[in-house]
This record gives sequence, C-alpha cells and structure tokens, in this order.
Amino acid sequence: MAKKKSILDFYEMKENNEKVAWITAYDFPTAQFAEKAGMDMILVGDSLGMVVKGYKGTVPVTMEDCIAHSQDVRRGAPNTFCIGDMPFGSYQVSDEKAVENAARFLKEADMDAIKLEGGRRVSSKIEAISDAGIVVFGHIGLTPQSSGQLGGFKAQGLTVDSARDLIKDAVSVQESGAQAILLEAVPPEVTEFITKKLDIPVYSIGAGLPCDGQLLICGDMLGMFQAFTPKFVKQYANVAEIEIKAFEEYIEDVKEGKFPTDDHVYHAKDSKEEFEKLFAEFE
Ligand code: KIV
Repeated sequence: MAKKKSILDFYEMKENNEKVAWITAYDFPTAQFAEKAGMDMILVGDSLGMVVKGYKGTVPVTMEDCIAHSQDVRRGAPNTFCIGDMPFGSYQVSDEKAVENAARFLKEADMDAIKLEGGRRVSSKIEAISDAGIVVFGHIGLTPQSSGQLGGFKAQGLTVDSARDLIKDAVSVQESGAQAILLEAVPPEVTEFITKKLDIPVYSIGAGLPCDGQLLICGDMLGMFQAFTPKFVKQYANVAEIEIKAFEEYIEDVKEGKFPTDDHVYHAKDSKEEFEKLFAEFE
C-alpha cells in the first residue's frame, strides 16, 4: 500500500513538476475505488448538495451534511489525503466560527485539510484557521457558493480587469496562510501566471493544463450528474447509462418471473415431504 501523502508531498510534487490528480467523493464506495485507483487526494465537496442531494446549488448544504459525508469518505479511503469543504455560512460569520467549524472536520471526520471559497474577502478566515494549525486550501474563480453574485455558474478572469482581481485574490490567499489553492473556470493563461507567481501548489478545475494538478467532480467524470455538464468536464464513463440499463433489465426479469432463479435462493436442508408435513400442521 502506498504511503499516505501529506501537504509536504504536494509541495515536493510541485517542485518536481509532478501533477496531482484528485476528484470529489461523498460516499464510502467511491472513496474506496478512488484510493484503490491511486488518487492523490479526495475533496469531500459541498457539491454533494447538487450531486448527491439534488439541490440546484451548494448553498443549502450544512456542516452536518459535510461532516457526515467526510466520515463516509474517510472510512472508504483511510490512506488518502482528504479535504473537507466548508459549506456556505460555516465561515463567513466570524473568524471564531470559521476556526470552530474547520476544526470539526479534523476532530470528527479525520480530514487532513479544509477548503473554503473566496480571496481577499476571506483573508482573516484563512489566517485564523491556518493559525489554528489546520491546512487550508483556498478556492477562487467560479465560486459556486457566491454564484448569485457572479450571475450564475460563470467562468472568471476572462477580461483583464477580472483577471487582475483574480491575481490579487490568489496572492491574498497565499499571504493569508493557505497551503494550496484551487482555481475554478479560469482561462489557462491566467492559471499559468498565477501558478508561476505563487509558491503554494495551484490546482485547476476547469482552469486548464498549466498548473500543479487537476480536480474533477466524480458525478461529472463518471457521467452520473444529469442536470448539466460544464464545458471543462471530460466524461470517463457513463455510469448513469450502465445503472439505468441494469435497472431496466431487473424490472423486466421481475415482471417476467425470470428472477430469482435456482441460483439465487437458499436450498432447504430437510426433504420436501418433511416440509409438507410441517405446512399441513398449520392448515
Ligand atoms: O464542492 C466542490 O466539489 C467544489 C468544487 C466545485 C471545486 O468546491
């Protein structure tokens, strides 16, 4: 079994130009499969609100949801670096609340790090959580929790003015003490500039190749999330198609009496005659 990675391994991978591959996971089996496949890290994203719970966005997701799913993932991937995602409302209120909730991910779900959304406007939260000894991942660009302010799930940094804001946010995230940063839905030229400018690892979800690694949402890359597919997703499997086909075949088998067969039942140990005698007792 490979040694569990720490944040220092991710610094070293950046240094050696070795890319990091990570996905989101929310449940025990997906985490198990990700660890077996050799995933470098797993994010228990608040995207669970959309992928698992069927909400339109991530805003309704609670701390209790995130902790419960983080616990499931940790049980499935005990040997993988796992990041808990701080849901909307869990860090915005005050630095104290941010530290209290960040600590819950470590104490209750054995996460290795936490992630929160925002740049300059969450600098005091990043600083407070980091000062508490917790590894923080920043997340800027398309930040789903504030998609209302962004006018929807829209790419960021497409203009020079917007890219300037992103660069300032990226620098602030690093200066506040974050140990890695995720850029979401950002053009590759901006990603490349930020990656060269920062010392901490810079990861992409929809932010192109020139950075230190890639994240995809498991529901997107496995073809399970049906509501929409972002432009940046590469679908590696169509699990929805496989599941629907399996369900259809099962329904047909049940309706036609083809399931269960002799192979799928338990075989009585006593003879048919003995059972008939037993049934007769009750007639
Ligand atoms: O919740 C999540 O999965 C995320 C990704 C969109 C980066 O934050």
